[in-house]
Order: sequence, then C-alpha cells, then structure tokens
Amino acid sequence: MATDFNTREHSSNNERDIRKYFYNLFKDSPIPENELLSNLGLYTSRQTLSRQLFMHELYKKIINVHGVIMEFGVRWGQNLALFENFRGIYEPYNYNRKIIGFDTFEGFPSVTSLDKGLRKGDYSVTDDYEVYLEKVLDYHEAESPISHIRKYELIKGDATVTRKTI
Ligand SMILES: C[S@@+](CC[C@H](N)C(=O)[O-])C[C@H]1O[C@@H](n2cnc3c(N)ncnc32)[C@H](O)[C@@H]1O
Repeated sequence: MATDFNTREHSSNNERDIRKYFYNLFKDSPIPENELLSNLGLYTSRQTLSRQLFMHELYKKIINVHGVIMEFGVRWGQNLALFENFRGIYEPYNYNRKIIGFDTFEGFPSVTSLDKGLRKGDYSVTDDYEVYLEKVLDYHEAESPISHIRKYELIKGDATVTRKTI
C-alpha cells in the first residue's frame, strides 16, 4: 500500500523520530481491543488536540445559525467525524444540519503559482477511500439520535466543478 501521499511536512528529524517511536508505542499498545478506541486520548498529541478544540470553537459559533456544514477538501475526513460528533452533542435532533464534504479523493486536481510548493495530486488518499470514509461516518451517525436519516454527504470530484443543491 502506498505510504507517500506527497504531504508537506515541516518537522525536524528529531520530531520525526519521536513521532515514529510514539506511533510504534501506539501500534504495540497493550490495551485490549475492546478498550482501545475509548482510550485514544492517551495517544492524542497537543497539535491534534489543538485542531480538535479549534473545530469545536467553530462549531459552537454555528449552533444558533440555521444551515448546513460544508468542508471543501476533507482528505481522510477527520473534521467530518468531529462535526458529526459535535452535532450529536449540541443539536442531536437537528436533522437539517447536514454535513457535506467535497474532495477529489485524488489530491489537488490542479495548482497555480499561488499554491507554493504544491503539485497536482498532492494530499491524495488510498484507492476507494471514500467508500471506507462512508462506513466510518455511518458509524458515528449510528451512535447519535435520528440515525435512520442520513445527514451527511460526500461529493467526489473537483469542488470548483461539482455542485450541491440544498
Ligand atoms: C491539505 S488537505 C486538508 C484536509 C482536511 N481539510 C483536514 O484538515 O484534514 C487538502 C484536501 O483538499 C482536496 N482538494 C484540493 N483541491 C480540491 C478541489 N478543487 N476539489 C476537491 N478537493 C480538493 C485535496 O484532495 C485534499 O484532500
């Protein structure tokens, strides 16, 4: 399986080394599988937690605003999963709060000179990743109320071309 998706990294060698070491600690976790997912906080880094808190702040700002959430460029979909969880926490019965994610699932379809250092195809994902992501998003919906109504959508393709009619 491909492991190089042409992501831009700005880490030092030391940071890369300790992250690799830490990933191995995670991979070899002695925590039993029925407890591992509910103990992921053990492996959440400061940077990852900061991103999650930032998304949380954004979500809190829209709670009193009618409408849907759209993310243009979801990649592995971590923000979509967060938004599903925030919706389940803050507005579990708001079936109008659809979460719509756009991505080519093949990386950047094109770049210009303004996209410094980026090349076409950067930030791609594994083949058919959107099929896997749908299963993950289905799970998160299943863990919240009104789970029989699908409240998310993935739109595959160049977001400057694809359309979504609400
Ligand atoms: C750097 S990743 C960001 C992923 C996500 N927002 C996150 O924070 O984890 C950029 C994503 O945007 C997608 N992308 C870039 N240009 C796009 C376009 N014109 N249409 C659809 N997706 C696009 C890429 O495929 C990639 O998955």
